[in-house]
Amino acid sequence: MRALITGGAGRLGRQLERLLNANHDVITTDIAGDVNVKVDLTDYDACRRLIQDSRPAIVLHAAAWTDVDGCARDPQQALTVNGLATAHLAALTASRGLPMLYISSNEVFDGALGRPYSEYDRPNPINPYGYSKRYGERALAQVNPRHYIVRTAWLFAHGGGNFIQAILAAAGAGKTLRVVTNEVANPTYATDLAAALADLIESERFGSYHLVNEGAVSRWQFARAILDCAGYAETPIERISRHEWRRPSLPPEQTALANVAGASIGLRLRPWQEALRAFLDAEAPS
Ligand SMILES: NC(=O)c1ccc[n+]([C@@H]2O[C@H](COP(=O)([O-])OP(=O)(O)OC[C@H]3O[C@@H](n4cnc5c(N)ncnc54)[C@H](OP(=O)(O)O)[C@@H]3O)[C@@H](O)[C@H]2O)c1
Repeated sequence: MRALITGGAGRLGRQLERLLNANHDVITTDIAGDVNVKVDLTDYDACRRLIQDSRPAIVLHAAAWTDVDGCARDPQQALTVNGLATAHLAALTASRGLPMLYISSNEVFDGALGRPYSEYDRPNPINPYGYSKRYGERALAQVNPRHYIVRTAWLFAHGGGNFIQAILAAAGAGKTLRVVTNEVANPTYATDLAAALADLIESERFGSYHLVNEGAVSRWQFARAILDCAGYAETPIERISRHEWRRPSLPPEQTALANVAGASIGLRLRPWQEALRAFLDAEAPS
């Protein structure tokens, strides 16, 4: 089937393209970068032309403004990119009877539940990025019954721009590492997520899913595991709290996701420790 992937130049979009290319006719779009069609999804007419011209059988919407601190500085723009652009695609797919998959975030939860969030727990975002992602979820669920809403967390992908590379670069440069202990979620390998998404769209089991590598850790524990796996076991990491790491967007505290709906149809991602090892092995120079 023909699949249109938005955010095709992004971390997840690149992996999705690579995986779906094996069995599907893939069209990628993004606002810039190496994609088939460049479109600003906040422009409704441009979205309409994109759907009309590319004639997809499904839309996988991975484009977003993922700079959470940028979103906190400009909440209106966050709502426009993450909310309104999603509403555009939701309306256009619904009017053509097309399924649409939307990637959402653990940050739609407030982090106060005290246990991992299942798909059946109530979202309650506490920062502008979380609000904008929740807006997108609602816009899609309200107009297109053929939807998949897939929440994920702490993505790491080949090609740069993630927490693992930042930690390794700091350790390699001999910098003092200070990492937060009271922000907890599920590190998730974009390659594993993309494989699960490829299976999910074959299922036609529409609804909401939490697809993350299994297990949850604090940022500090994740940083420790990265350094231990990558040969920096002797490098110390100072423990700090969320409030000491001053930034425009306060992340929710405990937003580990529990994969209940996906597991019920056989979709499970391996434990994050195995995924981290696989990622580092693949990154190692041969
Ligand atoms: N990264 C994470 O840890 C994480 C965690 C949970 C959920 N998610 C969700 O997972 C999805 C994929 O994340 P990712 O890490 O792959 O994101 P990413 O690497 O930032 O890719 C998103 C892409 O969307 C593009 N984009 C931004 N505004 C656009 C617009 N108006 N029109 C068209 N394209 C636009 C971005 O372009 P620019 O780079 O030029 O802005 C970027 O290439 C997102 O929906 C995100 O909210 C991510």
